[in-house]
Amino acid sequence: MTRDTDPRADERTDADGLESTERTARTDGGEATAGADSVALDPWGSSTVSDYRKLFEEFGIEEFDEVLPEVPNPHYLMRRGVIFGHRDYRPVVDAMREGDDCAVLSGFMPTGDPHIGHKLVFDEIIWHQERGADAYGLIADLEAHSARGLSWEEIDEHARDYLLSLLALGFDAEEGTLYRQSDNRELQDLAFELGSKARFSEFEAIYGFDGETSVSHMQSVVTQMADILYPQLDGPKPTVIPVGPDQDPHVRLARDLAARTRFFKVTEAYASFEADALERDVIGEAYAALSADAPAASDGEGDEAENGDEDGTTGGEPVRCEDAADWLESGEFDRARLGVDVSQAAVEAAIEKLRAAGKEPLRPRVRFLDRNATEEAFEALIEAVEGEKRVFEAHVDTFALSREEAEELARGIEIEHGGYGFVPPSSVYHRFMTGLTGGKMSSSVPASHISLLDDPEDGYDKVKSATTGGRETAELQRELGGEADKCPVYELYAYLLAGDDDEFAKTVYDECVGGERLCGDCKEQAARLMREFLEEHREKRAEAEEVLAELDVDLHSNRRGVTSED
Ligand code: TRP
Ligand code: SF4
Repeated sequence: MTRDTDPRADERTDADGLESTERTARTDGGEATAGADSVALDPWGSSTVSDYRKLFEEFGIEEFDEVLPEVPNPHYLMRRGVIFGHRDYRPVVDAMREGDDCAVLSGFMPTGDPHIGHKLVFDEIIWHQERGADAYGLIADLEAHSARGLSWEEIDEHARDYLLSLLALGFDAEEGTLYRQSDNRELQDLAFELGSKARFSEFEAIYGFDGETSVSHMQSVVTQMADILYPQLDGPKPTVIPVGPDQDPHVRLARDLAARTRFFKVTEAYASFEADALERDVIGEAYAALSADAPAASDGEGDEAENGDEDGTTGGEPVRCEDAADWLESGEFDRARLGVDVSQAAVEAAIEKLRAAGKEPLRPRVRFLDRNATEEAFEALIEAVEGEKRVFEAHVDTFALSREEAEELARGIEIEHGGYGFVPPSSVYHRFMTGLTGGKMSSSVPASHISLLDDPEDGYDKVKSATTGGRETAELQRELGGEADKCPVYELYAYLLAGDDDEFAKTVYDECVGGERLCGDCKEQAARLMREFLEEHREKRAEAEEVLAELDVDLHSNRRGVTSED
């Protein structure tokens, strides 16, 4: 059972209510899993998603299409809509384009063989690495042990297989980092710190944990939080986590925790009092309307004016808080114009605050709120804010810095004073592959998936006996065309076999829906390509053995253990 995380987390930065994606030749088989009627994002659940559109509406995942035009040479999984969603991916795209620091990280629970579904994530990590991101691949062994009850022997064996496949597909181990959760001390330290910002009540709300949940399972959650932020231990940087949408609750919690560790929160404000985002929008409306005929003036508020009061007032009366309250109560204010969903309650709250501030002039400013700063860090921040500023007990207002400049300054001071300065991590989400036998692709049902360790001939056979989107008879198929959108074999082409060749994927699709392609031949072609892929992968895995042996990853954990499953 999974519920939404705290909606306040990202305030309103996440898109809501997006339209569904137009599907043309973007035939990713998303409909094949239709049937279930609720969306639940459960990291330890069955990993099927009945309706990807609901993920945008209910969870605020953003549509990938919206950033796609900004991605330089997008991966074919992006072009084909297999990667369908993201959370705040833009900073990573910008960093890759500008050659700035950025990172990619994903993790794998070693519960079975790596299969072609995992290959998507391997490819995503490698693609980002090739574009300059610091790349991390981790083995979620603590999670596999505590949440799935695997023994350490099993975990060691599978861990090895995941790493070999990741290397075989092109992960550059000299440039990148591979680790196991269980033997990464720095990671455990970070998990411990993050744990002090997480509450059990949130675990209940987010993951449905209860009094029966084992403490080790909870520890594996804070460990994953640490995984997600680990690339930033050597400095804050945009980081993308490529995962399936079932991991979104983890991403949201990690974004929350990252924010909670920050020393300062930078916001915008119009006056000395605190207002939330909606109230600020309301006040902003009043300010914009009233300041059109009266330029802002200096005020003299605050406990301590640090830099004089002269702010270039060019005459005219300042807009005062009470004027703004009057304006909001007059007929001139139209809530609907704000474009965001502002309740009457927010308007009333804004009016009340404005009335309480009375004659204080309204002036836009950027505010640093003290969240976790030590006294020295807060003092150092006050020192460092240049230009006109006002200092209050738990915040500083600056009139000279933009929000971006303020963010940068706050982060710098935080890091100088022993903080992490975390940037909220980003994510990209891919569709789950349909199982070859229909339904979901599952590690525990061998015929439903193709393992990356499968014998090439077995791979060939599995494709040959896969379910298709074909019609009952060849005649009908010629007449009506096949249903490529519901065909697991077509998915194999789109997700893997066509590789970077969009033309090829499109031809298969067009020929199928146009009735020119019949399933027998189509599967034969796919089965051969699969066999070739598996043969090549097998060779590359053999070559990767040597690289793996050189790596600093202990594959004989030799741990004692008590398995538990909850
Ligand atoms: N929970 C993930 C899974 O079930 C594995 C994982 C652990 C992970 N840490 C991670 C994924 C960090 C992404 C990022 O597969
Ligand atoms: Fe699937 Fe190929 Fe048959 Fe079309 S022709 S339904 S893609 S197997």
